[in-house]
Amino acid sequence: MSDEDYKKRISAYFKHIDSDEDKAIKQKFLDNCSYISGQYDTDDGYIELNKHIRKLEDSMGVANRDRLFYLALPPSVFAVVSAHLRRNVYPNDEGTVRVIIEKPFGHDLESSQELQMQLEPIWEESEIFRIDHYLGKEMVKNILILRFGNLFFSSSWNNRTISNVQISFKEPFGTQGRGGYFDSIGIIRDVMQNHLLQVLSLIAMERPVSFDAEDIRDEKVKLLKAIDPLTLDDVVLGQYVKSEDGKEPAYTDDETVPKGSRAVTFAALGLQIHNERWEGVPFILRAGKALDEAKVEIRIQFKDVAKGIFKNIPRNELVIRVQPEEAIYLKLNTKYPGLTTRTVITDLDLTYHSRYENLKIPEAYEALILDALKGDHSNFVRNDELDVSWQLFSPLLHKIDDDPTIIPEPYPYGSRGPKSVSKFLADRGYVRDKEGLYQWPITKPDAAQDVTET
Ligand code: BG6
Repeated sequence: MSDEDYKKRISAYFKHIDSDEDKAIKQKFLDNCSYISGQYDTDDGYIELNKHIRKLEDSMGVANRDRLFYLALPPSVFAVVSAHLRRNVYPNDEGTVRVIIEKPFGHDLESSQELQMQLEPIWEESEIFRIDHYLGKEMVKNILILRFGNLFFSSSWNNRTISNVQISFKEPFGTQGRGGYFDSIGIIRDVMQNHLLQVLSLIAMERPVSFDAEDIRDEKVKLLKAIDPLTLDDVVLGQYVKSEDGKEPAYTDDETVPKGSRAVTFAALGLQIHNERWEGVPFILRAGKALDEAKVEIRIQFKDVAKGIFKNIPRNELVIRVQPEEAIYLKLNTKYPGLTTRTVITDLDLTYHSRYENLKIPEAYEALILDALKGDHSNFVRNDELDVSWQLFSPLLHKIDDDPTIIPEPYPYGSRGPKSVSKFLADRGYVRDKEGLYQWPITKPDAAQDVTET
């Protein structure tokens, strides 16, 4: 590719370029980009790259030759590229280096540690930024503030008041065309061991002594160490089949998927955290492709209030909607207005787009690349954190990979997932609202809701 081809290629990804001013900004950005090509495993390209960067630094008169390398590459070449960068493009004592690496960080504990061992002699841990883009999402970054900045949440955040916690990831499309990549990975490695477990750590960890990266990551590691390794009894596994109307394909219809594949495209997983705060509270991670909607949310369901004056009053739930339509809402019961003592379920609703004018929420990668430029590791994954997360998941993953009798439960494309999930959730204490009792967002507060007799 030539420099010009490269710019043409990235130009396709600019959004909202409407006015002349936008066009000028875009052009300025492109003028700041250059493309240098080379082979992963020979010095020439890297030497060329170093010369080019030096020329730019000199023309800009920069004081320090600080450099950030973003290795958006297959993990199999992380080590070889790192070694060449270290040898040819490292600024030595003229500046600092930051290296961003993308998942997958291995396939299991062993391969992750092997990758780590390859990188260890090349980069300091302080130079490495393992990116998990869920940590850059606005609502995920909000968790610590919400929990520790509000006494009524922090004081009820425990097994005395919370019944169960669910972290769900739903995608309405399958793996079409990406099946070849997905097949050996499956949804547990793709989304749960990293994105959802990171969210769980932030929801469940203890208060860090400061917002410093190491203080936050220390707490996450401590939390992960309190979780039991997962077994088959803790999971429901699924694979999507054709949609009920026959229009959408089954996972195995994808030509890039091996015949008879047992790949897991849906999983629900129940975890127990053995510490004083959480003993007895099930944490449920759910993730699936080809489901009925696009949604990522955290649902904290509180316990029942004492009976007596109430019959069958719904539970409180705090929901953090990560995407789409960022929101936080708290489901609660109030008196139905008027000359009655009936209760109605309603909510306190902080929907970002209604609360904040001209809201522009940065993309996760936007936020994280900026953090890396500033050298802030808080929202990146530390090596010991990675080890503990693989320790939790590896025995289960090996069992699923190696035992041909484990067949995921089929669910139709576009459905809510495998049938047995409802029972799985109920067994873990989740109580579903009576159908139609409450729907978020509430559009017609009177009509949309039923009232329960007290
Ligand atoms: C990626 C997974 O890490 O996250 C994909 O590999 C998944 O399979 C994606 O679709 C989801 O990210 P987002 O930001 O669209 O929720």
